[in-house]
Amino acid sequence: MTEKPWGGVFREATDRRVERFTESISFDRRLYQQDIAGSMAHARMLAQVGLLTPDEANQIITALQEIREEIATGRFPFSDEWEDIHMHIEKSLIDRLGDVGRKLHTARSRNDQVATDFRLWVRDAIDALIPRIRAVQAAFVDRCETDFDVILPGYTHLRRAQPVLAPHYWLAYCEKLERDVERLMDCRKRVNVCPLGSAAVAGTSLPIDREMTARELGFDAPSRNSIDATSDRDFAVEFVFALSLLAVHLSHWAEEWILWSTTEYGFLKLPEGFCTGSSIMPQKVNPDVLELIRGKTARVIGDLQILLVLLKGLPLAYNRDLQEDKPPVFDAYDTVASCLEVAEPLIRGAELNREAIAARLEEGHLDATTLMEYLVSRGIPQRTAHAMVGQLVREAMDRNCRLADLPLDVFRAVEPNLDSRVYGVLGVRNAVQAMHSYGSTSPDEVRRQIDWWREKLAQR
Ligand code: ARG
Repeated sequence: MTEKPWGGVFREATDRRVERFTESISFDRRLYQQDIAGSMAHARMLAQVGLLTPDEANQIITALQEIREEIATGRFPFSDEWEDIHMHIEKSLIDRLGDVGRKLHTARSRNDQVATDFRLWVRDAIDALIPRIRAVQAAFVDRCETDFDVILPGYTHLRRAQPVLAPHYWLAYCEKLERDVERLMDCRKRVNVCPLGSAAVAGTSLPIDREMTARELGFDAPSRNSIDATSDRDFAVEFVFALSLLAVHLSHWAEEWILWSTTEYGFLKLPEGFCTGSSIMPQKVNPDVLELIRGKTARVIGDLQILLVLLKGLPLAYNRDLQEDKPPVFDAYDTVASCLEVAEPLIRGAELNREAIAARLEEGHLDATTLMEYLVSRGIPQRTAHAMVGQLVREAMDRNCRLADLPLDVFRAVEPNLDSRVYGVLGVRNAVQAMHSYGSTSPDEVRRQIDWWREKLAQR
């Protein structure tokens, strides 16, 4: 027998290199609060069913509180000899309480314990992320008022397409982030199931009350199948997928604002506190924060790959490979949380270069589609109207002018029934005004969207 908690059957001591190789305490100490909460609930349940006396349970809970305090204040000794956070806490409990401490691991294995801790951690992580996403949405919604009268080119294929209101852009990002919130909330339902009491793989012969531990820990229900419960990491994959897509959304936005803040676009001035300089070129003000938001997305997507590849070859149920599930989940969470943290003030601090935008807004014939729709509304078949406006745009290109600058006889040459009312749909301001279908960019429609978002964000 060796000193390890599992040492009974062993005659040789663990090689030091193996201790260093197999440890997870270097990263899973992050689960200490969840581990202690799980142990407290387990102890209360054991007392309830008579596997501990009420006094034993109280001693255990008091000692766990002390341990929690010591870890929180940095006084708790960690060592890779004790493998992981579960063993550290249990060993310390036994050091304090002797045989009473030795009773806590009744009807439990580290396999259900780690699954429980990890679910509690992911649940907390989701609950912490949602307000951060909401803060980014609120930053966009607040910008909508300041930027309400600004018209920007809407792009497709990165070519100027149709004019849109700036707040229409801001709310597009809000919609994407809203689906991220929904995905996280949906994932939370499958996270919030309690594996505790599944023990190693087969459950236990002892008379435990799994409903009670599930309830105590705020889970919706105990897991139904002990083999599944100890092997399932779907919840971690779903969580990191939701984070990956969220990171991709932030990356779209970062890329867009990097472009918009170039001299070539000149749409946007980034807040200086969120830019950095060059060590050689004195004039540079670089968008490093946005670049890193875009760049860190790669890490998060990488974390998702790690998890999927980790899981794909595993037979049921627990395998030690599963210890490798935590670093990518922690990393994905930390990365996305830090991106959200800097995104919010950056969004609030950026300024649109109104004059520079307006100066070039009439370039690119952004009103061509509205003109075509005007012809359609006068009974001309869409395909015919499309061809007519194509001819008019070609004419404007040849004359190097806007559609609105073409004389009426040019319009009449294409469609004799046109009169001066045609100028009422030309120019970007008229074109934006004309886009009044549900979800489109006219000021009335965008106002309705802003109101919807204000109400939505006030409800939280
Ligand atoms: N540290 C392990 C993990 O993170 C839990 C321990 C389970 N170990 C075992 N030999 N059953 O997954």
